[in-house]
Amino acid sequence: MTDIFHWINEQLTIAGDECRRLFHGRGGCFPGYEAVVVDWFSPVVIIRLYANVPDALLDGIKAYFERDPRVSGLLVQHRGRGRDTDHEIVFGDVADVLISCESSLKYEIRPIQFQNSGLFLDMRNGRDWVCEHAGGKNVLNLFSFTCAFSIAAMAGGARQVVNVDMSKRGLSIGRANHQLNHHDLSCVKFMPYDMLKSWGRIKRPGPYELIIIDPPSFQPGSFIAENDYRKVLRRLPELASLNAQVLACHNDPAHNQSFVRDLMAQECPEFNFVELLPSQEDFPDIETERGVKAMVFERHD
Ligand SMILES: C[S@@+](CC[C@H](N)C(=O)[O-])C[C@H]1O[C@@H](n2cnc3c(N)ncnc32)[C@H](O)[C@@H]1O
Repeated sequence: MTDIFHWINEQLTIAGDECRRLFHGRGGCFPGYEAVVVDWFSPVVIIRLYANVPDALLDGIKAYFERDPRVSGLLVQHRGRGRDTDHEIVFGDVADVLISCESSLKYEIRPIQFQNSGLFLDMRNGRDWVCEHAGGKNVLNLFSFTCAFSIAAMAGGARQVVNVDMSKRGLSIGRANHQLNHHDLSCVKFMPYDMLKSWGRIKRPGPYELIIIDPPSFQPGSFIAENDYRKVLRRLPELASLNAQVLACHNDPAHNQSFVRDLMAQECPEFNFVELLPSQEDFPDIETERGVKAMVFERHD
């Protein structure tokens, strides 16, 4: 037990008021804790359980946070159970909507409504990269969900961002996220479309100098990476400007970076691989490339 609390305390200290994964048992680095993940959205901690765990184990983690004065609310989320039984507020006030900070940007977090709270914590390095590279650019954010990448792009000085996602709810939280960060909404577009059927409309505000592709691995009826990732890549030549950059992400634990790199080489050889962004220290994993893969490509034709 002691080991994990040392780790958690360190992560909480690094995080301060910023959101962060405090414990990533799913990475397999802490034997016995493979089903446990702990996230921090100051001042609330969320324990996410991916399978049943012994009562003593869970009680130990709960008791640890009960004693920590930095934590004023604790939620346990049981993944894979029905909606009504999937969460338990252990103590404190867990608001329906929290405002959380990452890299000094603000995001609306919905700890109870969304299983993922509305912000994917494992993409912080990706968002920081976008913030650094978006200056003056026309940015296309495919599979934008709550527009987190666009928040980073606008913060980095993007000229325009275009968010595409079939989830109207995701986009409306995205709009709120842009407002929270005082972004000029006349530079932000929201397209609530099934992108596989809407390339004409997506192309119109282009060409784009930076394109972000961050799809689900497996969302039956909407997007299945094995079949559909190549359909998105195939569109890049008509969407992208010369010298455009692409941040292509993939989170299927069964695939390593070569899944996207091979598809890119087949579908768009004019886009060269530049780098795989480093994985985050708050997501330690015994297997390399099981977590999120975020790859940068650049167009040279
Ligand atoms: C993994 S989330 C994307 C995360 C997001 N990039 C972020 O930074 O938080 C997947 C998103 O893809 C969207 N999606 C899946 N299939 C789609 C499709 N065919 N057209 C448009 N959006 C789609 C879903 O609505 C969902 O919001």
